[in-house]
Amino acid sequence: MDPMLNIAVRAARAAGDIIVRAMDRVDLLNISLKSRNDFVSDVDRQAEHEIVGILRKAYPGHAVLGEEHGEQGPAGSDHVWVIDPLDGTTNFLHGFPQFSVSIGQFYRGRIERGVVYDPLRQELFVAQRGAGATLNNRRIRVTRQKGLHGALLGTGIPFKDQSYIDPYLAMLKSLLRDAAGIRRAGSAALDLAYVACGRLDGFWEIGLQRWDMAAGVLLVLEAGGLVSDLEGGDKYFDTGSIVCANPKLHAPMLELIAPHLTDPLRGRPTV
Ligand code: IPD
Ligand code: CA
Ligand code: CA
Repeated sequence: MDPMLNIAVRAARAAGDIIVRAMDRVDLLNISLKSRNDFVSDVDRQAEHEIVGILRKAYPGHAVLGEEHGEQGPAGSDHVWVIDPLDGTTNFLHGFPQFSVSIGQFYRGRIERGVVYDPLRQELFVAQRGAGATLNNRRIRVTRQKGLHGALLGTGIPFKDQSYIDPYLAMLKSLLRDAAGIRRAGSAALDLAYVACGRLDGFWEIGLQRWDMAAGVLLVLEAGGLVSDLEGGDKYFDTGSIVCANPKLHAPMLELIAPHLTDPLRGRPTV
């Protein structure tokens, strides 16, 4: 395996071990609120500490951006690791078994490597630009689902910033009319990984952060899928809004989303 991916996998597995070990003592954890409905626990911090330690030891010249501890390492480095040590904290704190570790590696602003690890199912999703995507070392592909009819979609329901709840619900209403089903599983990184391996036909969410998406975006692209912002452009990391699907389903999803876009969702000021 590529040496950088190897290190990322080691870091993701180490963080996964910390998370799983903590599962049966969630009631003893120190939990605090970062913002409305946004919780963080000692486990998130310990897992990130572990990942950063492994990455920085192997690559002291690289920078890291972690959800919990922010930026570390040399400023202006061409290499930046973007880390979500525990994606799906709310699930984890409730014992709802759907969460993951997500590690993406950027070179000069472009995502090059991605690892998403589900420590409960021991499922390791890996992607490298130009080299494809795998689940536990087997090649994965997006589905061939044509159009919405019969499609299984993933999404995230807004729970922190509810200012876009109305346009979101309008999108949901349009998309669920034809879809076979819509799932809100609670870990965006795993949702993206599930699109990559064909468990979901498509996924959309508003209000994500770079660390939620980085690795998953590359998984979908390398598995043959399309990824865009809500308008079909490439500003998903800047706007935090994402639509992804196989190439036949992506345009139909955008078409149903378009009528419900407000200026803030287009990434434009309202006045
Ligand atoms: C959250 C999860 C969730 C998504 C949220 C994210 P966190 O990440 O990915 O599925 O809907 O927007 O913030 O806070 O558990 O790392
Ligand atoms: Ca997250
Ligand atoms: Ca997190």
